[in-house]
This record gives sequence, C-alpha cells and structure tokens, in this order.
Amino acid sequence: MYTKQIASAVAALSFVSGAVAVGCSDPTATIRSPADATAIAKCGDIDGSILISKDFSGDVNLGALEKIGGDLIALDNPNITSLTASFLGEIGGALQLKNLISMSSLQLQRLSTVDTIEWVTLRRLTGATLGTPGITKASSVLVADTTIKSLDGINVDNLSFLNLNNNRDIVTFKTNIKTISDQVIIDANGLKMQMEMPNLIWAANMTISNVTTFSAPALKTINGSASFSSNYFTSVTFPNLTKLEEGTFSFISNPQLKNLTMPLLTDIGGGFIVANNTALSQINGFSKLENIGGAIALRGSFENFTFPALDDVRGAAEITSTEDIKSSCDKFQADKGSEVQGGISCVAENASANENTGEGGSGNSTSGNSGNGNSAGAFIGVNMATVLGLGAVGVFYTAFL
Ligand SMILES: *[C@@H]1O[C@H](CO)[C@@H](O)[C@H](O)[C@H]1NC(C)=O
Ligand SMILES: *[C@@H]1O[C@H](CO)[C@@H](O)[C@H](O)[C@H]1NC(C)=O
Ligand SMILES: *[C@@H]1O[C@H](CO)[C@@H](O)[C@H](O)[C@H]1NC(C)=O
Ligand SMILES: *[C@@H]1O[C@H](CO)[C@@H](O)[C@H](O)[C@H]1NC(C)=O
Ligand SMILES: *[C@@H]1O[C@H](CO)[C@@H](O)[C@H](O)[C@H]1NC(C)=O
Ligand SMILES: *[C@@H]1O[C@H](CO)[C@@H](O)[C@H](O)[C@H]1NC(C)=O
Ligand SMILES: *[C@@H]1O[C@H](CO)[C@@H](O)[C@H](O)[C@H]1NC(C)=O
Ligand SMILES: *[C@@H]1O[C@H](CO)[C@@H](O)[C@H](O)[C@H]1NC(C)=O
Ligand SMILES: *[C@@H]1O[C@H](CO)[C@@H](O)[C@H](O)[C@H]1NC(C)=O
Ligand SMILES: *[C@@H]1O[C@H](CO)[C@@H](O)[C@H](O)[C@H]1NC(C)=O
Ligand SMILES: *[C@@H]1O[C@H](CO)[C@@H](O)[C@H](O)[C@H]1NC(C)=O
Repeated sequence: MYTKQIASAVAALSFVSGAVAVGCSDPTATIRSPADATAIAKCGDIDGSILISKDFSGDVNLGALEKIGGDLIALDNPNITSLTASFLGEIGGALQLKNLISMSSLQLQRLSTVDTIEWVTLRRLTGATLGTPGITKASSVLVADTTIKSLDGINVDNLSFLNLNNNRDIVTFKTNIKTISDQVIIDANGLKMQMEMPNLIWAANMTISNVTTFSAPALKTINGSASFSSNYFTSVTFPNLTKLEEGTFSFISNPQLKNLTMPLLTDIGGGFIVANNTALSQINGFSKLENIGGAIALRGSFENFTFPALDDVRGAAEITSTEDIKSSCDKFQADKGSEVQGGISCVAENASANENTGEGGSGNSTSGNSGNGNSAGAFIGVNMATVLGLGAVGVFYTAFL
C-alpha cells in the first residue's frame, strides 16, 4: 500500500512536471514511452486499461504490475519488440495484441486469469512465456496468423470460445479444456497439426479443418453442430460420444479418412452429412445411431453402409456412391424404408457422387419432384429423376422399388 501511494505520488508529480503523462488511476493509461511503462509498472494494481500507443518503440516492461482491471491492448504497432509483465497475475478484460509485426517476445510468467485472449498477426512471435500451470481462467481465446509454436501454458478448464487459425508453426495442440460453451474453430494451422483434447466432455459447436489427428476420447455431448472438413486424418473415433443435440454433424472432403467410428452415438439433432471422403470404403461405425432430426446425405466412394439401430429420420436419406452399393441400398430400403420420413434415394455407381458436399434435403426437394405427400410417392419421384439420368450420366443401377 505504502509503496503504491508513493509510486502514485511520484507519477502525479512527474505528470505536473510534464515528464510522464500517465497515472495509476487513468481510465485508460496510454503508454507512449519506456518512461510511461516504468510509471505504470509502479502502480501495483490498476483498475483501468492500458493502451500501448502506436508511437511506442522498443521493449514494453510493466515491471512489478500485478493486476489490470480493464484491458491490456497493443494494436497496429510495427516497433514494439517485446512485452514483459513478469508479475502480472490478472487482466480483468482483454489481452489484445494485434498486428505487432516486430514483437518477438511475450513474457507473462505469472498470468493466471484473463477474460479474453486475442493474439492476431504476430509474425515474429514463436511463443509466449507462461508459467506453470499458466493461464487457468479465461473465457475466450483467439490465436490467429502467428508463428507461435505451442500454446502449452493455456490450461483453462471451461472456455466459451477457442479459435486457432493460420498459425503455421503449431504442430501439436494438446489441451486440458473440459468444456467449450460456444464454439471451437481450428483451421489452416501447421500442416501436420495434431490435436488432442483428452478432457473435453462437451462442446457447443466444433469446426475442425486441416488437422492430421484429432482425439477427444472423453467427449460425451456436442450441444450444437460439428463439422470436420479438409482434414488429413485417416481415422476418427469419438468412443464416448452419445449425442449431438442440435445442428448438423458433417464429415466432408477428408481425403485420407478410412475409419469413422462413433460406437455410442445414438442421436443427431440436425442433419448428418458424410461426403467426398474418397478413401472411406465402408460406413459402418454408427452401430447405435437411432435418431436423426434432419436429413441424411451420404455421398462418396464407399462399397457398403449400414445403420442397424436407425429408428427415426425426420428428413430424407440421399445416398449415393461411385461404387456398387446395390446390396446395401436394398437392405436399407427394406429395413428402414418406413423409418425415414422424407424418403430414401439410393444411387449406386454414380461417377459424380463426390461432387456435392452440401446438406441433404427432404425427399421431394432432392428429387426435384413435387406434390408427393408421402414417402412412397417421394421414392417414385426420386426414381423417375434417376431413370431420366440413366442414359446421360451412365448410371446403370438404381436401388429400391
Ligand atoms: C517504426 O517502424 C517503422 C516501420 O518499420 C519505421 O518506418 C519507423 O522508423 C519506426 N519508428 C521508430 C520510432 O522506430
Ligand atoms: C468446469 O466445468 C466442469 C464440468 O462442467 C465443472 O465440473 C467445473 O467446476 C468447471 N470449472 C470451473 C473452474 O468453472
Ligand atoms: C451441453 O451438454 C451438456 C451435457 O448435457 C450440458 O451439461 C451443458 O450444459 C450443455 N452446454 C450448453 C452450452 O448447452
Ligand atoms: C484447409 O481447410 C479449408 C476448409 O476450412 C480448405 O478450404 C482448405 O483447402 C484446406 N487446406 C488444405 C491445405 O488442405
Ligand atoms: C467414457 O465415459 C465413461 C462413462 O461416462 C467414463 O467412465 C469414462 O471414463 C469415459 N472415457 C474417457 C476416456 O473419458
Ligand atoms: C452453438 O450451439 C448452440 C447450441 O448449443 C447454438 O444455440 C449456438 O447458436 C451455436 N453457436 C454458434 C456460434 O454456432
Ligand atoms: C476403426 O476404429 C475403431 C475405433 O478406434 C476400431 O475399434 C476399429 O478396429 C477400426 N476399424 C478398422 C477397420 O480399422
Ligand atoms: C464392405 O466393404 C469393405 C470394403 O470393400 C469390405 O472390406 C467389407 O467386407 C464389406 N462389408 C460387407 C458387410 O459387405
Ligand atoms: C450423383 O451424385 C451427385 C452428387 O451427389 C448428384 O447430384 C446426382 O444427382 C447423382 N446422380 C444420380 C443419377 O442420382
Ligand atoms: C473433394 O475432396 C477433394 C480432396 O480433398 C477436393 O480436392 C475436392 O475439391 C472435393 N470436392 C468437392 C466438391 O468439394
Ligand atoms: C415436401 O413435400 C411436402 C408435401 O407435399 C411439403 O409439405 C414440403 O414442404 C415439401 N418439402 C420441400 C422441402 O419442398
């Protein structure tokens, strides 16, 4: 306390003399020079925010500063070379570091709590020095367009938002996160990026692209939607996943995917899409899947498929493969014809099967036919459209009817 008061007094005096223009109680303390940083460093705690000015050049050192009530922000500054805040434990608001192209060092050895992390366009930064266990409380983390190699010091249990994109040097990301209440987005990071979320129990929405492995062995619930596209993995399994509560579950254009297995999954609240995964030769990993709230679209180069437990599909099932899926089609039609409310279209040996990666529709909309109020009518409509395509497209087998 005593030290703090003296520091404040010194800062105030300096202000009077014109040497330092920042004070501990400024709503936003703008740091324009190393001297400003030194003045702020002596505050101990500050309630307001700190803004590092675009005019600042060199190393920012916040010395013994322990707590910032508001934000710590540095934007669009080509001359900051480092940011050091070795005693800073808490930032009440955002830690926003954006477009700092010379910053090569970020020292935050004691930081444990921050509301949002936004590190964007930091092209010389290879990592942040965080302590152990590092940042344990945060609500949102965005790390984009950086040369960061690892995010090991971010050990938050419950996040609302996680977005890692265009960090070309991140090759592994293993995190203890347990819950994600809004969204996780992973895209365009290091080409061989491996992602492990061993403790993740539920996530609201997931969008995962360009990863080489993805594991979430404890994942039990996806509350919203989940999309896995353009990944390099050969196998995906969520051994504990039981439900995707609402939204679409999709696996699109994962060219090396051979094995897709969700042994406990019973419910998909919205649509289900497995499209253009050209190495996937069978779709048989959904042995407990009972209910699908939307439409099914399976399009690929698989040779057979099976959904033994399927009990209710609200939309249509549009199934097509470049391979001969005739016997799977026949069996599916016979066993599940009345469970699929929107009607079934199942087309074998379709050379263009991998060309549509969109959602499925209802039976009548995908067939281009209209006026069929029941599913049997929808089958006829689909079949007619298919027959018309026969000569032109060279499809020589259509299933059902
Ligand atoms: C800041 O960086 C810019 C661009 O690299 C440069 O032109 C300018 O001279 C630098 N300013 C200072 C004060 O170092
Ligand atoms: C994080 O979420 C888990 C699971 O919902 C819960 O048990 C735990 O108490 C939460 N932790 C914090 C720090 O909020
Ligand atoms: C997601 O589902 C889990 C398990 O049912 C639940 O505990 C959690 O509150 C849900 N989260 C959201 C954001 O709905
Ligand atoms: C990465 O994923 C995106 C989809 O989010 C895709 O458009 C892009 O082609 C992928 N990049 C590579 C190199 O696979
Ligand atoms: C899977 O769920 C079961 C039952 O909820 C639990 O005991 C088990 O630890 C979970 N597996 C993993 C890898 O977390
Ligand atoms: C995430 O999922 C929830 C359902 O749990 C949904 O209400 C919400 O709109 C989704 N958010 C995004 C960003 O997709
Ligand atoms: C597919 O993955 C599951 C889960 O990891 C595994 O049990 C199964 O043996 C794999 N199937 C093949 C054909 O490799
Ligand atoms: C399904 O196709 C795969 C790949 O050709 C094959 O190994 C498997 O035996 C087939 N399963 C059935 C039940 O026909
Ligand atoms: C072949 O597959 C494409 C893409 O899924 C689809 O648009 C087309 O209607 C299918 N052809 C037939 C004859 O069903
Ligand atoms: C199908 O996947 C391949 C390989 O990932 C990709 O090049 C192609 O563009 C995808 N096709 C569509 C229609 O998205
Ligand atoms: C499908 O047909 C039914 C009955 O005619 C109609 O109510 C529904 O709106 C149609 N769906 C679409 C997507 O066209």
